[in-house]
Amino acid sequence: MQPNVTPFFHPPTSSWTYVVSDGVSREAAVVDPVLDYDWRSGRTGTAAADAVLAHLATGGLQLRWILETHAHADHLSAASYLQASAGGKIAIGEGIRQVQATFQRVFGLGDEFVPDGSQFDRLLADGDALDLGAVRGRVIATPGHTSDGVSYLFGDALFVGDTVFMPDGGSARCDFPGGDAAQLFRSVQRLYQLPAATRVFVCHDYGPGGRAPQCQSTIGAQRASNVHLRADTVESDYVAMRRARDATLDVPNLIIPSVQVNIRAGRLPPAESDGVSYLRVPLNVLGRPL
Ligand SMILES: [Fe+2]
Repeated sequence: MQPNVTPFFHPPTSSWTYVVSDGVSREAAVVDPVLDYDWRSGRTGTAAADAVLAHLATGGLQLRWILETHAHADHLSAASYLQASAGGKIAIGEGIRQVQATFQRVFGLGDEFVPDGSQFDRLLADGDALDLGAVRGRVIATPGHTSDGVSYLFGDALFVGDTVFMPDGGSARCDFPGGDAAQLFRSVQRLYQLPAATRVFVCHDYGPGGRAPQCQSTIGAQRASNVHLRADTVESDYVAMRRARDATLDVPNLIIPSVQVNIRAGRLPPAESDGVSYLRVPLNVLGRPL
């Protein structure tokens, strides 16, 4: 059985969220939901997530899973909000524990934050099954961009997170703490073993050359024409290209709020005695010297 896939684009962060569902049982998963965030005011919003909820309601879909491909550094997750509204279990790759430990140090989080993955309902390992009714679902560990990276294969639909972008967009950076270009190369080789017709759904598209945002390609198209990583690309060439390119990239706009919320499965930090939730900003830690 092949799943139905409905994409949702979030223009402020160029992110794609997906609803994957089985047309018979109406069981569904949401992949990488986005919580709106205004960095000027520090306000969060639910317009993007509400569009997903409306789609679930209209289709009579039962939300089984809220799946993160990794702890994103460029947008906040709406996983917790979706769960409060529609149920389902929040899951992420088991490598999240390393990501949590790393960023507990980066942000100087106290003992209140425990880097054991317990903020999520389930931690996923390579090969784990995530069926939706008659649609077979499987986890493929794809670390490299981050150490917790996983891809989700539902029938013929593969959700790759930030392993590869659209073929003209190449691949994701590997310079975050825990990132590793050689590891990403090997993760992508695993994905390239899938049938050529496998549908590939990306987590971001920045519209290279000014084209309209796109979300879907195929394994065959990626193997033939990904500008960073074709089937015949040599690992050492890829790693050299990736490192040189990453050295030129700025820190993502929303890394500071995103990571602090996303390592908590999309929950804001606990409110302080005044009832307000605060984020922390480590000075002169992230990025390159000015
Ligand atoms: Fe990412």
